Amino acid sequence: MKPLLKTLTETFAPSGYEDAVRKIIQKEVKPFADEIHVDAMGSLIVRKKPTVETKNSKRVMLAAHMDEIGVIVSHVDKNGFVRFASNGGVFGRYTLGARIRFMNGVTGVVGFDKLEAVDQAPALNKMYIDVGATSRSDCPVKIGDFGSFERSYMEMGNRLVAKSMDDRAGVAVLIETLKSIKVTPHDLYFVFTTQEEVGTRGAGTAAYGIDPEIGIAIDVTGTGDTPASLKMSMELGKGPCVKVRDPGMLSDPRVVEWMVNTAEKAKLPYQREVLLVGSTDAKAIQVTRAGVMSGALSIPCRYIHSASEMVDLEDLKNSVKLLTAMLSKPVSF
Ligand code: CO
Ligand code: ZN
Repeated sequence: MKPLLKTLTETFAPSGYEDAVRKIIQKEVKPFADEIHVDAMGSLIVRKKPTVETKNSKRVMLAAHMDEIGVIVSHVDKNGFVRFASNGGVFGRYTLGARIRFMNGVTGVVGFDKLEAVDQAPALNKMYIDVGATSRSDCPVKIGDFGSFERSYMEMGNRLVAKSMDDRAGVAVLIETLKSIKVTPHDLYFVFTTQEEVGTRGAGTAAYGIDPEIGIAIDVTGTGDTPASLKMSMELGKGPCVKVRDPGMLSDPRVVEWMVNTAEKAKLPYQREVLLVGSTDAKAIQVTRAGVMSGALSIPCRYIHSASEMVDLEDLKNSVKLLTAMLSKPVSF
C-alpha cells in the first residue's frame, strides 16, 4: 500500500481539478471492477456486483474523496506578487512558509506583508505567493489558477507523512478493499468523489445517481493524542475509528453497530469516534433523496489540512480488513 500512497499523495488534485488522481485510481481498479464510469461532477464510480445471492444484501456506496485543499489566484499586483483565496479549508498558520504548486506546474512560496506579532499567523489576505515574477506581465499564473501544497511523501517507521493524506489515505484504503474482496452478497459502489473540501459536493450528486441503501465515507479524522490537543479519544495506531458523530452528521446506529460487531468478531482493533471539528462525504450522502442509512470509517490523522498530515500504516491495513470483513457477509438488519 505504501508505494500507492506515495504516488497518490505526490499527485496534485485541488477541488474541482481531480483528473490526475482519477487517472491513477482508474488504472488500479480496472482489473477488479464490473463497471466503471465518471459522472458529470467528475466522481469516479466503480461497481462490484454481488457474487452470491442472499437476503439481507444491500446496495452500498463507499466514498473517499479525491480532492485536496488548496488555493486560487485572486489578484496579481504590478510587481507580480500573487494574492489568493482558499479552495477548501486552508489555515493561515499552516500556509505560512508553504510551497505552492499550480496546475500548470508553476511553483511559488508563501510570504506575508509584515511581521506584526511573531507568534500569530497573519490572515490569508495578508499573505501572497511569490512565484519568481517581477511584474504582472511576466507572472506565470493568472486569475483563477488553482494550486495546492507542494510537499513530498516520507516514512517515519509506521508513521506516514504527506500532503493530502486527507483523503488519499482513504482512497488507498478503498482501492485495497476493492482488491481484497473475493465474495460479496452486496451491490458495491466504490466512489472516488470530487469537491469534498469545498462542501461535500461530489458525494451528494453521486449518491443521488446511485440511490444507495447504505452510505459509508472513508476519510481521515482528527486525534486527541498530541500535547494539549482537543479532548478527543482518537489516537494514531489504535485502529480505524467508527464514527458516531461529527458536527455535520449523526451516524446511523445500525451502521455503527455493524462496524463495531464486525471488528469485535474479527478481533480487529477499532476506536469509537466523536469528532469535534470537521465532517465527511457521509453527511451529504445521508441526506440525499429520501435519506440514506449512513456512517463513516475514519483513519486517525494528525496535522489535518497541513502539508504534513500523518497517519499510521497499521490503521490503514486494519481499515482494509474491517471493510473487507463487513462487505463480504450479509448485514443483520
Ligand atoms: Co479535509
Ligand atoms: Zn477529507
